Order: sequence, then C-alpha cells, then structure tokens
Amino acid sequence: MSNIGILSLGHYLPHYRLTNAQLEKMVETSDEWIMTRTGIKERRVALTGEKTSNMAIAAAKEALHNAPLTGADIDLIVVATTTGDSAFPSVACLVQKAIHAKHAAAFDVAAACSGFLYALTTAKQFLMTGAAKRALIIGADKFTNILDWNDRSTCVLFGDGAAAAVLGSVRQPRGILSDYLLGLGDYAEYLCVVAAEREQFEQKNLLIRSPYVVMQGQELFKVAVNSMALAVETAAKKAGVDVKDIQCVVPHQANDRIISAVAKKMGIPKDLFFINIEKYGNMSAASIGVALYEAVEQKRIKRGDLIALVVFGAGLVAGANIVRW
Ligand code: UT7
Repeated sequence: MSNIGILSLGHYLPHYRLTNAQLEKMVETSDEWIMTRTGIKERRVALTGEKTSNMAIAAAKEALHNAPLTGADIDLIVVATTTGDSAFPSVACLVQKAIHAKHAAAFDVAAACSGFLYALTTAKQFLMTGAAKRALIIGADKFTNILDWNDRSTCVLFGDGAAAAVLGSVRQPRGILSDYLLGLGDYAEYLCVVAAEREQFEQKNLLIRSPYVVMQGQELFKVAVNSMALAVETAAKKAGVDVKDIQCVVPHQANDRIISAVAKKMGIPKDLFFINIEKYGNMSAASIGVALYEAVEQKRIKRGDLIALVVFGAGLVAGANIVRW
C-alpha cells in the first residue's frame, strides 16, 4: 500500500548576505534589538537580475537531481509565491520551460508565508485522485522587492530564497498523513502589500510607486501563535497521532519568539523545533522548505520519523501537515 509523500528536496539561497550591522547603517536599529526581538542575525538578498523564477528554477533542478528525475517525469508544477517576476506568466510556467516538463500542468498559488504547505496540500490532492503521478512544488519569494527600506519595523525581518520538493508515491507507513489549511480573512489588514499608484493615476499624476509591505506586528504575533498551535493539534488529530509523539516540528520562520510561544502553548520542548531564522530571516513561501531541507541535511529528521510542518502568514492563512518521513 502506498501514500503520497516527499521524494526529494531542493533549495536556493542568494549569495548576498545582508547583516544586522549593515542594517544599522540604513535605518535606526541595532543588532541587539533585531536579535532579541526576532532571532535574526542576517538574511539573503537577491540582487537585480536574480528573479523569483531564477531562484525557483535552481531549487527545482536540485530537487529533480536528488530524486533523481527529469522534467519529463513531472506532470504537475505548483509554485507558491506572492512575488512572481510579473502578474503573468506564472512562475510555474517559467519553471516548466526551464526543466522541460512538457506534459505538466503548471500554476502558482498565493498564500504568502503559508504558500509551501498550500502547494504541497494542493498537489497531494491531484496525486491522490490519479490526476497526476509526480508533482513538483516550490516556495519562492523575493520579498526584499516589496519592502519599504525606510520602515525599520518590517525591513529587518525578511529575506529571499526558494525551496522545492518532488511529491509522488511512497510505501506506507511513510507519507503525508494529514493536511490542515485555514483561512483567517478577518485579520487581513494585519499584513498587507499596499500601493498608491492607482490613486495617483486618478489624480493624473503618473508617477509609479512600487507596492510595499505594511504590518501590525504585535496583533499578528498573537494570531500566529494561536493558529500555528491549533494547526498542529488539528493535523495531528486528523492523522490519528499524539502531539507528544512528534519527533521534529518544522515551523515557518517569522520570529524565534513566536516559535518559543508555540512550543510553550503546545507543551512540546523547543529543542524539537528546527530553527534557522538566524541565517535567513523570514523568506515567506521559501522559509519552511529551506528549513525542512536543512533539518534533513543535518539529520535532525531521519527516515521513519514523525514530523509536523506548520505555517502562518499574510491572508491571514495557516496550515499544517503531519508527515511520516
Ligand atoms: O510571516 C509573516 C508573519 N509575520 C509575523 O508573524 C510577525 C509577527 N510580529 C513580530 O514578529 C513582532 O511583533 C515584531 C518583530 C515585528 C516586532 O516586535 P515587538 O516586540 O512586537 O515590537 P513592537 O512592534 O512592540 O515595537 C517595540 C519598539 C517600538 O518602539 P516604542 O514605541 O516602544 O518606542 C518600535 O518603534 O521597538 C521599536 N522598533 C524598533 N527598534 C529598533 C520597531 N522596529 C525596530 C527596529 N529596531 N527594527
């Protein structure tokens, strides 16, 4: 008997490192504030010409190589991003072209920082119904493109990157045991991208302003903690497993203090949570995939382990999956 599971992983991180020390010269902040309030030491920044699609393609190629498979073996590509190169074509179609996945369906999903698990859960449904045999999912964001670099309350938090996974059949008891996705649209205004260009157009002032992120951090913090804990508990219940039996939790990396609070609320020791926020900040849809990649690479997750993946982000949206690795 088989389940749908993760066959391989890939990732991509831009080379340019932006440290807290550099940020101290850009806005009124300090390494001490950023470290104690968030746990972030540095983040990667994709430079001009290094687009979301380039990062997605690099991560996809590594995941295919690790499977090992080629584009011809993939019949579904789902890319989670809210910072695609442009409104269209989708990043998924650009990936399809680059990996020569000529027979694949390809589309993007927009669920901000929760996108990787939205892509995973969506692709899993295609695989379970037999509509696809092997899927490539990717979380990729160039979030630094939509930051207001004068706003110290947001610009210190985010970075860029991409992560990919190939999904297909695995032998039981391995596989993705349960899914839980939740929309929390009532809190939409807590984290938004705003743009003033339409208003300016109507005033016959054609100056284009780039869209940028605005955030109500404290309000978001509370919803993040509650909904991430609820998501893991609900997904565990759906999988028929006890939260206490989870051997590793891979959470979205928004703030080290959020992860501490989730661990405390759930009664799970914090050292079971995999955390790499210090090196990358919040990479939106890429964060959890890169964390999963590193957790496996560092042998924090081994074959047969029971793990929880849990995300939270703009929308607001949350989600979790229980996986037997
Ligand atoms: O993936 C999307 C999900 N994102 C999140 O879930 C983010 C959730 N929120 C958070 O992680 C935290 O709320 C933040 C890290 C964003 C902020 O931490 P906080 O402990 O909630 O700080 P705060 O917003 O209450 O600000 C405290 C003080 C303020 O100054 P006053 O009013 O006390 O004088 C801010 O102006 O810190 C000030 N501040 C800063 N100081 C130095 C805000 N940003 C900075 C900064 N450097 N970068």
